[in-house]
Amino acid sequence: MLKVATLLATAMLLCPGECNFHATGIPSIPKDSSPIPNDLQSISIEFAYFPDYAGNKSQPNTFSKNLLHNLKAITGIAPKVRVGGTSQDHATYFPNQEDNIHLIYENPTDDQPIQINYGPTYFESYDTLGDIKYLHGLNMNQNSSSQQLKDAATEACTSIGDKLHLFELGNEFNFAPGKYRAANYSLLDYVHEWDMKSATVKKAVEKACPESFPGFMAPSFVLIDKIVTTTWTAEELFDLGYDAKNLTKELSFHNYMGVNAPPLPPAAFDLQRTLMNHTNIIQNLAPQIQRAKNLAYLGHPYTLGELNSIANQGRNGETNVLGDALWLVDFSLWAAEHGMRRLHFHQGLNYRYASWQPMESKGVAPTTRPPYYGQIMVANAIGKSKNTRIVNIPLAEDTESAYAIYHGKRLSKLVVTNLRAFNQTTSGTRPHRAYSFHVPARHCSAKVERLIGPGSDALVNITFGGISYDYALRRGKPALVHGPEEVARVRDGVLAVEVPDSSAVLLTLD
Ligand SMILES: *[C@@H]1O[C@H](CO)[C@@H](O)[C@H](O)[C@H]1NC(C)=O
Ligand SMILES: *[C@@H]1O[C@H](CO)[C@@H](O)[C@H](O)[C@H]1NC(C)=O
Ligand SMILES: *[C@@H]1O[C@H](CO)[C@@H](O)[C@H](O)[C@H]1NC(C)=O
Ligand SMILES: *[C@@H]1O[C@H](CO)[C@@H](O)[C@H](O)[C@H]1NC(C)=O
Ligand SMILES: *[C@@H]1O[C@H](CO)[C@@H](O)[C@H](O)[C@H]1NC(C)=O
Ligand SMILES: *[C@@H]1O[C@H](CO)[C@@H](O)[C@H](O)[C@H]1NC(C)=O
Ligand SMILES: *[C@@H]1O[C@H](CO)[C@@H](O)[C@H](O)[C@H]1NC(C)=O
Repeated sequence: MLKVATLLATAMLLCPGECNFHATGIPSIPKDSSPIPNDLQSISIEFAYFPDYAGNKSQPNTFSKNLLHNLKAITGIAPKVRVGGTSQDHATYFPNQEDNIHLIYENPTDDQPIQINYGPTYFESYDTLGDIKYLHGLNMNQNSSSQQLKDAATEACTSIGDKLHLFELGNEFNFAPGKYRAANYSLLDYVHEWDMKSATVKKAVEKACPESFPGFMAPSFVLIDKIVTTTWTAEELFDLGYDAKNLTKELSFHNYMGVNAPPLPPAAFDLQRTLMNHTNIIQNLAPQIQRAKNLAYLGHPYTLGELNSIANQGRNGETNVLGDALWLVDFSLWAAEHGMRRLHFHQGLNYRYASWQPMESKGVAPTTRPPYYGQIMVANAIGKSKNTRIVNIPLAEDTESAYAIYHGKRLSKLVVTNLRAFNQTTSGTRPHRAYSFHVPARHCSAKVERLIGPGSDALVNITFGGISYDYALRRGKPALVHGPEEVARVRDGVLAVEVPDSSAVLLTLD
């Protein structure tokens, strides 16, 4: 509390009357860089749970469709959906299976099945969500029959048709030594196996489907110190001749901030230290940003083809709360500014970091979860412009961040996050921070849209811009629950706003 008081008294004053502004400056034009893709906020769905998310022809999942369509309505481009993950490398295609999918669990309470058997009707799920482009995962792990691989790829291209954006062959194969393959399976072995199998896929698809071969997202490695110790690197992978035929169209690497595995500190502590922490986000993304630079010579967009907050499906009290949504906003804007071209936030039924629960399962009704609101806020920050750029505005603390958003060369919006944890059961008033920014003289006011809820630990009652996307209200369609619209005036070229702890604000200049 002392810290808050000091901060308010000295740094960024917002005081009616004797104003002594120390307003923060904003770069007048952005750095020269590629515009931010409108589908930055994209989705990855665990292969085993895709039918639960999408439904099928007789029972389409309109809730998921609505939530995906909301993002399209905001940015003009539908999010891309990658269907894959660990279960993709445990999935076997049976051309004669009538049911869409059979999931075989070792223990019924496990997060993921150990075996997935799917048939042609699995692909009905690609027709239920409307105008979405897909990245479809093929099993690289199975090595008993190349016919299996050909059948699976052929069925995918004929069924998904022009909605198929790219294939993916294998998930996180950097884990293969000692898991899917002998302990001495080398990076070079992987190069040979992937090159051989990708050629098999291409040949089968070209035979079955008239359109030109779409290509792959690859290599889908997770190379994070906190998760895996490996000598495999992406730079060496390509030096060894990986993808000699240049079938890759987009680079994909996976990202997590930590892992849900013992020893675990209390969830609320880890939420502040790991997720609600701008410094930690910068440190976590630094290797990805470096790798993107190292691999830029390949000429492929660099994506995070699967990511979320805490690996192993997340952690209750940390990844299913408002604090995680604030992490998602700060993470996404930093990643976008530094060259990550798409972010596929990973989803699975009952996963603890999921943006939504698509259907009733394990006693949990369909519901929109806090992370979804982070995705909505980022989509709003990017908007429909084809000429959006993002520049971070450095602030003093680990627990805050700000970004300027430009359309062309004009400053258009500002984002501020206040990442200080606030427990919703705390009595008394919620602390806030005051921010002020110098903005170009032509602006008189700004629309204020807040990402907020009862506290960093809140599971429900989250809104962005006063809007709820919950299932219970309109099955995921926007529902205005707090009005009226908030406006901030610009005075003497300074835009000032108060941001409560554990909330974020999007300011759109008039
Ligand atoms: C379609 O989904 C419903 C509900 O999950 C399920 O009962 C049905 O078996 C599915 N259809 C196919 C062909 O798998
Ligand atoms: C996979 O199968 C092919 C063809 O049988 C064989 O050449 C290759 O060595 C196998 N790879 C592994 C890693 O078992
Ligand atoms: C790798 O290990 C297998 C046994 O698991 C062995 O047959 C093979 O020779 C080894 N390969 C190399 C290159 O050491
Ligand atoms: C919030 O405060 C309550 C009451 O003091 C406490 O039981 C709970 O553990 C706190 N929650 C978090 C996430 O710190
Ligand atoms: C934020 O993360 C950095 C880097 O991991 C760490 O040094 C710092 O203590 C963290 N801050 C908080 C408030 O936990
Ligand atoms: C590989 O294809 C990409 C486009 O997908 C292109 O940018 C790149 O120059 C190609 N690389 C080579 C070596 O042809
Ligand atoms: C959520 O908001 C509703 C309506 O304002 C309220 O009745 C409910 O108690 C809130 N739930 C929580 C857990 O804050």
